Amino acid sequence: MKIKNICCIGAGYVGGPTMSVIALKCPHININVVDANQDKINAWNGHIDNLPVFEPGLSEVIEKTRNRNLFFSTNINENIEKAEMIFIAVNTPTKTEGKGAGMAADLTYVEACARDIAKYSKSDKIVIEKSTLPVRTAEKIKEILISNNKTVNFEILSNPEFLAEGTAIEDLFKSDRVLIGGDDTESGQKAIESLVNIYKNWIEKEKILTTDVWTSELSKLASNAMLAQRISSINSLSALCEKTGANVDELSHAIGMDHRIGSKFLKASVGFGGSCFQKDILNLVYLCKFYGLNEVAEFWHQVVKINNYQKERFAQKVIDHFDGNLTGKKIAVLGWAFKANTNDSRESAAIKVSEILYKNGASLSIYDPKVQKRTIVNDIQNLWKIKNSMKEKKINIVEKFAATNDCDAFVIITEWEEFKNIDIDDAKIIFDGRNINENKNKFSIGK
Ligand code: UDX
Ligand code: ADP
Repeated sequence: MKIKNICCIGAGYVGGPTMSVIALKCPHININVVDANQDKINAWNGHIDNLPVFEPGLSEVIEKTRNRNLFFSTNINENIEKAEMIFIAVNTPTKTEGKGAGMAADLTYVEACARDIAKYSKSDKIVIEKSTLPVRTAEKIKEILISNNKTVNFEILSNPEFLAEGTAIEDLFKSDRVLIGGDDTESGQKAIESLVNIYKNWIEKEKILTTDVWTSELSKLASNAMLAQRISSINSLSALCEKTGANVDELSHAIGMDHRIGSKFLKASVGFGGSCFQKDILNLVYLCKFYGLNEVAEFWHQVVKINNYQKERFAQKVIDHFDGNLTGKKIAVLGWAFKANTNDSRESAAIKVSEILYKNGASLSIYDPKVQKRTIVNDIQNLWKIKNSMKEKKINIVEKFAATNDCDAFVIITEWEEFKNIDIDDAKIIFDGRNINENKNKFSIGK
C-alpha cells in the first residue's frame, strides 16, 4: 500500500518526537498527530521554546516540519479516516485497580483508540502499536477493530519504540535497530513492507528486523528488563561497597571493561525511573505468573524490588546523617526529572526520596531546570496523597538553584549538567544520588 497519510494517536513523549523525525525524513508523507488533550496540542502548535516535550534537538526538527508535512490537532476522527497508516502512541500506565492492579498495564487508552479507529475507518488501514504494551495486545486491538467494523480490512503491526528520553532525537536518527512484527499472511507481509519502506528512508536495511507480532511485543519488554536489570545489579553491589569500603564507580569500570559485559548501563544511582522500566518489568512479571512461571516472575520482580530498596536506602542515608531526626532541617532536592535532559518526572527517584524526607520532618526546596512547577505539584499531591501541607510552606518549589542557598543539605537526584560543579558552601553537605559532584562534603551512592 502506498502511504501518503499517517495518523498518530497520542502526542506525548513517544508520539511527538517519533512522528517529527518520520516527517523530517519522509517529506512526501503527511503526518497528523492527534491527541484528546487540547492544551497539549496548543503547546505543540505554540512557541518553539514551550513544546510539551523537552528533548535536545526536537525543536529544530519541529521548526523544519511543522505545518509542512507535520500537523498537530485534536481532530481525531477526520485524521483516522484519511490515513492509510495509524500509529497508536497513547500512554499505558500500570493498572491501579481491578485484576492485575499494581502489575498489569492499563489498556483503557489503547482500547479507546481501537474503538475510535473502528468507528471512523472507511478504507483499509495498517494499525501500528507503538506504545509499550503487554504481549498479545495486538490480538486484543484486532478483536476490537474487527468486531466494531466489518467492512474494512485492518492489518496490525507491532513496532516498539526503543528511544530513551533525553536522547530521543539522536536515537531516532541512528536507531540500533527497528523492529517490526506482523502476521505471516500475504496482507500481513505487505503491511510490514509498507512500514519497512518508511524506515528505509534513513535506517540501513540490515538494521530493520521483521518478525511475528508476539516476538516483537516481547522483545520490547525483554530489552527494558535486561537494561534495568544491569542497573539493579550494580545498585545492589553499591550497598555492599558502602559496607566494605570498595568504590562502586571503580568497580563498575573494572566490570565493564570485560567486553562480554560492556560498560553501558552500569552506573550506580539512586535508582532508575522513567515511564518504561518499572512498568515493563511488572508487565513481564504478570505475564510469567499468568503462565505459572513463578520462578521466572520472581527473578524479574527482584529488579524492581532492588530499585525500591535503593531509593529508600538513599533517603535513609540522609536521615541517619541527622541522627534520625529531620525536624527543622531544610533540604534542597536538586532535580525532579527521572534523568537529565528531559522534563518527564514519571517514576522519578525524586518522588520517593523526597516523600521519605518530608514525612520524616524535613522541609524541602525543590529545584529542577526543566520540569514544570505544575508537574511537581501534581506528582506530590497525587503520589504522596497530601494536599494541605503544600500550603504550610514546608515544600517550596523554586525557579533557580540560587534560591536553595539557605538549606542544611543538598540532595542530588538528577544528573543535570548544572549540578556537576555547583558552588556550595563547604559547611554544607551533599548527598549525591548520581555520583556526579566533586564536593568534598559529599555522601554518594556506593562510597
Ligand atoms: C528506556 C530504554 O532505555 C529505552 O530503550 C526504552 O525505549 C524506554 O525506556 P528511558 O527510560 O527513557 O529509556 O531512559 P534510560 O536512559 O533508559 O534511563 C532510565 C533510568 O535509568 C533513568 O532514571 C537513568 O538515570 C537510570 N540509569 C541509566 C541508571 O541509574 N544507571 C545507568 O547506568 C543508566
Ligand atoms: P508516552 O510516554 O507513552 O508517549 P504520554 O503520556 O507522554 O505517554 O502521551 C500519551 C498521550 O496520549 C497523552 O497526551 C494523552 O492525552 C493521549 N491519549 C490517551 N488516550 C487517548 C485517546 N483515546 N485519544 C487521543 N489521545 C489520547
